[in-house]
Amino acid sequence: MDAPRKLVVGVWKDKLTPTRAEQCALALAGEFRQSDGRSCVIGVAPPIISMLSVRDALCGSAVTILSQDVHWPAESGSFIGTTSIEMLVDADIRYSMVGHSERRRFFCERDSDVRQKAVGCIEANIVPIICLGDDDQDERARRETLLKQIAGGLAHSVITENPTKWIVAYEPVWAISTWRDDRALPTGLEVAEMLALVRELLAQELGSPVSKVPVLFGGSVGPTNAEDYFGQSGVDGALVGGASLDPLSLASVFTAARNVWT
Ligand code: PGA
Repeated sequence: MDAPRKLVVGVWKDKLTPTRAEQCALALAGEFRQSDGRSCVIGVAPPIISMLSVRDALCGSAVTILSQDVHWPAESGSFIGTTSIEMLVDADIRYSMVGHSERRRFFCERDSDVRQKAVGCIEANIVPIICLGDDDQDERARRETLLKQIAGGLAHSVITENPTKWIVAYEPVWAISTWRDDRALPTGLEVAEMLALVRELLAQELGSPVSKVPVLFGGSVGPTNAEDYFGQSGVDGALVGGASLDPLSLASVFTAARNVWT
C-alpha cells in the first residue's frame, strides 16, 4: 500500500484503559464521520489490548487505526507478548509504527530490529512509520545519531527501492512530553529545520529518491502548536502522545491538520 502524503496520529501508548480507549474512539468517530478523500490521513494507535474494539468503534469513520509496534517476521521460533505482522494483516490494520524511542530505550530495540520490522511491514503491504530520535544537544551529535539510526535501520533494498511505501517520524527525545528537559519547545521554523536535516541525511545515506518520503514530527505536539507546525513546508504530519489522550484535544489537532491540508 502506498503511504499517505500527510499523516497525523494520536499515540495512546500504555495510557488508556480498554474502556477509555473505546470511549475516545467513539467520540472521534462521531466527530470525523466519513472518509472524504482528503490528502491527510488521521488515526490513532491504541494499546494492543484495545486494538480490535477501537478498530470496530472507528469503522466507517475518517479515523484510521495503527499499531504502535509489531514483531519482525520470523519463520520459526516463538515470541511471547508480541504481535506478528500476520496478525495485523488478518485484523486489517494497515499501518504500524516501528522503532519508537521508548521501544529502543526500554526494550533494547536495535537498529537491525527496526529494519527487519520495516521490511516485514512493506512486504506485507503494511505502511511502517519508522521512528528516528536522538537526545543530542548539538547538531553534530544529532547528525551522528541519526546517520547511525538511518544506516542501521533503513539501509535495505526493500526499503530504499520502495520510497512510496513508508514514512519517517522524527521525534527528538528531549521534546517528548514525558521526558522533557528544560529546553524550550521548538518553534515551527525549528521543527521544519530539523525535518530538513532528517531529509538531507536520508538522501545522503540511502539515495535521493528517499528525500521525498513524508516526514512527521513528534514531541509535545498539541492544540497550541499544531497549526504552526503543520503550516511549515516539509512538515508532513505528527505523532501526538500526551495531547491525544483527551479526544477533544486530539480532535483539535486533527482539525488543524485538515485546515492546513484540505
Ligand atoms: P508526546 O509524545 O506528544 O507526549 O510528546 C510523542 C511520542 O512519544 O510519540
